Amino acid sequence: MLKILFFGDVAGNPGRQAVKKALPELIQSEEPDLILANVDNLAHGKGITVKTLEELIRAGVMGFTTGNHGFSKKELADEVFAKYKDIIVRPANIPETYPGSSAITLETKKGKVLVGHFLGQVFMEKQFPDPISSVFDVFEKWLKENKTEDIVASIVDLHAEVTSEKVAFGYFASGKVSAVVGTHTHIPTADAKVLPEGTAYITDIGMCGAAGSVLGMKKEVSLERFINKSWTPYEVPENPSKAELSYVIITVDELTGKSTGIKPVHQLVDL
Ligand SMILES: [Fe+2]
Repeated sequence: MLKILFFGDVAGNPGRQAVKKALPELIQSEEPDLILANVDNLAHGKGITVKTLEELIRAGVMGFTTGNHGFSKKELADEVFAKYKDIIVRPANIPETYPGSSAITLETKKGKVLVGHFLGQVFMEKQFPDPISSVFDVFEKWLKENKTEDIVASIVDLHAEVTSEKVAFGYFASGKVSAVVGTHTHIPTADAKVLPEGTAYITDIGMCGAAGSVLGMKKEVSLERFINKSWTPYEVPENPSKAELSYVIITVDELTGKSTGIKPVHQLVDL
């Protein structure tokens, strides 16, 4: 049985610290074959840098998905997507002019795992500057191009705002990939399941980020924006004493490519 551990959106330094702190023990206890993380908010809550990605690589994370903020720090992102093109995947349904790989294949002891990544469309137009193709229009073509004979398991991260789009896509992709996980909203959902055709599914894994925050950002800033309708830039809490750590552990029968289980975990980690 092939075991995949997938961390939900790692938000800023508290999220990175939480992953680094928890991972050695998780590697011992769970013995995952593949460790993945969504890094849309990795560098100070928005985007990715080589330095922050390397922190997680050193900690043992083997592959990465991104999201609507993946290109926010443009020059830094270009560097990340060039240097780590084999282990970081960008959304496949954004314009081709964006750098990076729209699919990655990672080697494990049990065989090759295909990792895909798409953005949702609904309520995403203000969060991404360019047109996003519908995942429902492009998924099958993507699958045909990338799911080769030697792939033993496949997992797709749909980074989307609304639950309905993610749930619908889970059914759409059921039986075609081993797992579909949702990211972006930072709140873990209580609907992890294996669909009848053998696809593990969860609407949102949740985040790895500061406890006592609003989605990994200072709660004071969020409250200010809601109460006074003022535009105040989001900030990542500096030294929180605890972090939320959200991940799923997915088991896949590498002989059939079908999932046999998905275990969601949401816990607090002392920093
Ligand atoms: Fe996001």
